[in-house]
Amino acid sequence: MTEHTTQQTTRPVLVTGATGMTGSRVLARLRERGVAVRAASRSSEWGFDWSDPSTWDRVLRGAGAVYLVQNDLDPRAPEFVERAVALGVERVVQLSARGVDGPNYFEYPNDTPAHLVGERAVRASGLEWTILRPGWFSQNFSEGLLSDGVRSGVLRLPTADGATTWIDTEDIAAVAVAALTESGHHGRTYELGGPRALNLSEVAAEISQALGRTIRYEPVSEKEYASGLLAQGWSEAGTDDMVMALSAIRRGLESTYVPGVREALGRDPRGFSDYVARTFHEGWGLS
Ligand SMILES: NC(=O)c1ccc[n+]([C@@H]2O[C@H](COP(=O)([O-])OP(=O)(O)OC[C@H]3O[C@@H](n4cnc5c(N)ncnc54)[C@H](OP(=O)(O)O)[C@@H]3O)[C@@H](O)[C@H]2O)c1
Repeated sequence: MTEHTTQQTTRPVLVTGATGMTGSRVLARLRERGVAVRAASRSSEWGFDWSDPSTWDRVLRGAGAVYLVQNDLDPRAPEFVERAVALGVERVVQLSARGVDGPNYFEYPNDTPAHLVGERAVRASGLEWTILRPGWFSQNFSEGLLSDGVRSGVLRLPTADGATTWIDTEDIAAVAVAALTESGHHGRTYELGGPRALNLSEVAAEISQALGRTIRYEPVSEKEYASGLLAQGWSEAGTDDMVMALSAIRRGLESTYVPGVREALGRDPRGFSDYVARTFHEGWGLS
């Protein structure tokens, strides 16, 4: 393993996606270490909107490092990284996604996946860079897209019997903070996953046990799932993106162990049971 030494920088770290599943944890961990931070998103203290470039310079000016969480449906990482370089930022840690460079992972007929466009800009920027490629987050069941299913008692997903190595966003944040504050992570791409793969029936069983009530997994077709999202008001682009991302689970593309957490932190990733025990308890999601 590479030696990592902590670097003290007086310039703040800009954390985009600051209210999200990884950004909020990156912020908390940086604050614990006494690192100056700027929490940035549309609803955060440092107001920042990917779709409004007039909000970018203010958050970037004076920052030493950036945690970059893009908006997938409006990916503008190349222009943003260009501004970061112009305004004197030295380091960037980009949240990408597992499999972005695999030939069959994302089935975009013509386009390069948005994360890969961002990765190319980050690598070519001349900044110190680290890329994080996590698979599906465990916290989707409590804070993200899949939490509604847990609340209602039925996880209806087009994932068949596919299993995935759910990654705890605490581990993503730990890797991000290491890369933002230590030496030895420049030029590294970390593929991040949990210790073992679980399918949706296994996930439902673990969460049910912690909640003390039954959560069922009900496989549905992609068409049925997409109709459900469209009926809830999702855009076609957002729906296509989600169906494609979920197809990685159905196709078993995230069922193998990836070593990024160990490479970056020198320890194993947290297990799904650890996340469930910390998160779910009787009464969760009922109010
Ligand atoms: N979820 C997963 O399992 C998973 C797995 C692999 C990779 N990823 C990647 O992780 C990234 C984050 O996705 P997520 O679903 O996990 O969401 P998230 O980080 O939990 O939440 C999205 C964050 O982005 C901010 N945001 C949304 N639109 C914005 C805009 N126009 N301008 C500025 N900030 C904006 C939101 O804050 P405000 O609402 O305050 O703006 C929020 O802080 C995506 O690039 C996704 O591809 C996710």
